[in-house]
Amino acid sequence: MSKQILILPGDGIGPEIMAEAVKVLEVANSKFNLGFELSFDDLGGAAYDRYGVPLADETLDRARAADAVLLGAVGGPKWDTIDPALRPERGLLKIRSELGLFGNLRPAILYPQLAQASTLKPEVVSGLDILIVRELTGGIYFGKPRERTTLENGERMAYDTLPYSESEVRRIAKVGFDMAMVRNKKLCSVDKANVLASSQLWREVVEEVAKDYPEVELSHMYVDNAAMQLVRAPKQFDVIVTDNMFGDILSDQASMLTGSIGMLPSASLDVNNKGMYEPCHGSAPDIAGQGIANPLATILSVSMMLRYSFAQVAAADAIEQAVSQVLDQGLRTGDIQSEGCRKVGTVEMGDAVVAALKNL
Ligand code: NAI
Ligand code: MG
Repeated sequence: MSKQILILPGDGIGPEIMAEAVKVLEVANSKFNLGFELSFDDLGGAAYDRYGVPLADETLDRARAADAVLLGAVGGPKWDTIDPALRPERGLLKIRSELGLFGNLRPAILYPQLAQASTLKPEVVSGLDILIVRELTGGIYFGKPRERTTLENGERMAYDTLPYSESEVRRIAKVGFDMAMVRNKKLCSVDKANVLASSQLWREVVEEVAKDYPEVELSHMYVDNAAMQLVRAPKQFDVIVTDNMFGDILSDQASMLTGSIGMLPSASLDVNNKGMYEPCHGSAPDIAGQGIANPLATILSVSMMLRYSFAQVAAADAIEQAVSQVLDQGLRTGDIQSEGCRKVGTVEMGDAVVAALKNL
């Protein structure tokens, strides 16, 4: 039976990088007989311009019906002056929460060819391969009550709420342990249990889930220490599982250990491993339309899609191998450019991955 893939290029550099990822996906589709059918729609600024909303109901229905969603990026100054409720980023938050994509996987892998691209010392980051599992649909970003108000004395005040239920913690903890099982059986749960009640529950539930995974070596770390350790000695980690806000911050931090955000893919999964796949970076309005954006994060997101939503391990591995070969050939977009390498644009980089994949 054919599988439906919904492609949402978005805006900014989104359409440019997605065009390359789609070429790669199409080659993988025929080479590995995946039986994928691709369809396209708009999200973010592109959707606002076309439908007047950043996520149209029909698009959401199509995303629900699809077996997986591949997303470019959204947002930019063009939409800064519109109603904040209609901003491109709102479409992104809405599709994540409507699809129940609670499990966000953000690998930070340093390709050996790019060791010079990191701002950290080579011995600190060489061989780095960690995975941050971030809870994506709960916690302080969604907690109620949240309010901005004015006190009787006229002082402005605002508050947010950080709620986690047992079931929310349990399901993301399981994702963390499952990932640890297929990697190096080492999991670090990051919280702030010395201060926050939600973190105390988090730690308790993670310990309970751990009983089902006796082979996994579990540790706990407070988030402030984790931030420090990620920069001091990132290779001590293998899989990190953490809440929505801590994961947001730590995963951006981890991404920069690898040199360029233009290299980093992500997966956001629901309870059935149905997912949405996108690069970690945004729509890069500063370079949009110039044909110079790095398409590799989006191409690697295709690989994650094959791995996590469709268990097509050979095809997923092949795409990663093709990317590695292109880096071996010395091809670099501007963000990962270094001396002695050949600078290429978005399309040339995509073509090179396509050629490498065909030849594997
Ligand atoms: P950004 O990730 O778009 O860009 C940050 C810097 O990285 C820029 O200098 C950009 O040129 C560079 N960059 C990003 N991706 C690149 C690539 N593939 N190749 C080469 N260079 C690349 O973050 P920024 O500038 O903070 O946000 C721009 C817009 O994107 C905002 O509207 C923001 O809200 C939105 N955004 C959207 C996300 C998404 O769609 N998932 C995620 C993050 C931001
Ligand atoms: Mg973020």
